[in-house]
Amino acid sequence: MLRRRCLTISLLLICVLLVFSFASCNKAGTDGTSQNQTTGQSETQSQAGGTLKRVQETKKLVLGTSADYPPYEFHKLIDGKDKIIGFDIAIAEVIAQELGAELEIRDMDFGGLLMALQEGKVDIVIAGMTPKPERMEQVDFTKIYYTAAQGVVIRAEDKDKYKTADDLKGHKVGAQMGAIQEDIAKEQIPGSEVKALAKVSDLVLELKNKKVDALVMEKPVANAYIDANPDLALSEIEVVDDTGGSAIAIAKGNEDFVEKLNSILDNLINTGKIDQFVTDAINQVGD
Ligand code: ARG
Repeated sequence: MLRRRCLTISLLLICVLLVFSFASCNKAGTDGTSQNQTTGQSETQSQAGGTLKRVQETKKLVLGTSADYPPYEFHKLIDGKDKIIGFDIAIAEVIAQELGAELEIRDMDFGGLLMALQEGKVDIVIAGMTPKPERMEQVDFTKIYYTAAQGVVIRAEDKDKYKTADDLKGHKVGAQMGAIQEDIAKEQIPGSEVKALAKVSDLVLELKNKKVDALVMEKPVANAYIDANPDLALSEIEVVDDTGGSAIAIAKGNEDFVEKLNSILDNLINTGKIDQFVTDAINQVGD
């Protein structure tokens, strides 16, 4: 009886040990050969991992962003030259400096950013991006470095016309394609027809030209566009975002890079630098 029990316990122990050794084997192979076993994805997957090392070796940090998003990232003529600036760019500059790398900015449509990251075309994405669950399955995110509320922008002349989500029933509402605002528009302004476009700047034109009647936007971005366009205004309509905030995205399998980025962000948050970058960027939108 006792011997049988001993035998069962030993067998159990062996099983546990086997399971553990398999688990660690898998882990060791994360950025190596085991990646290529997933057919059809080998190209993208082989890019996963090793970003930090690559950046430090090439001394170049390639940032993917969508510069239609003041004060986060936007185009501005400085000394006659078109520059991309904003508080996300200020953060990226600190990161590049910390890594001893030069910052290279690739401006693209917001909807294409995660693909560019997965294909290894960019090292990092900073674009006011919300780490929502579907995205977390595709890429890794740092901690949240900034949070903002959502709002609905309309033409100033329509302020009394559109006061609740109900008032927009049967009207066209614009939002950026692939952004959380597209979901917010569909879910929180029921009965409206949602028009999604790649660029926020084009959405603003559509609103001004009466092709759409409202836009769902992040409030700081809404305010930046309203400052530049007095014919637009923030409506009283309330929309909410419970996924909350912006984080930096990196290709999966880069735990060391995520850790490094989180410590840089911690430092920027705790010293009040992010707030300073935001204020600076808001001032630069206006002048
Ligand atoms: N926070 C929203 C999202 O993650 C919108 C971000 C849009 N960013 C931009 N640079 N256009 O979906």
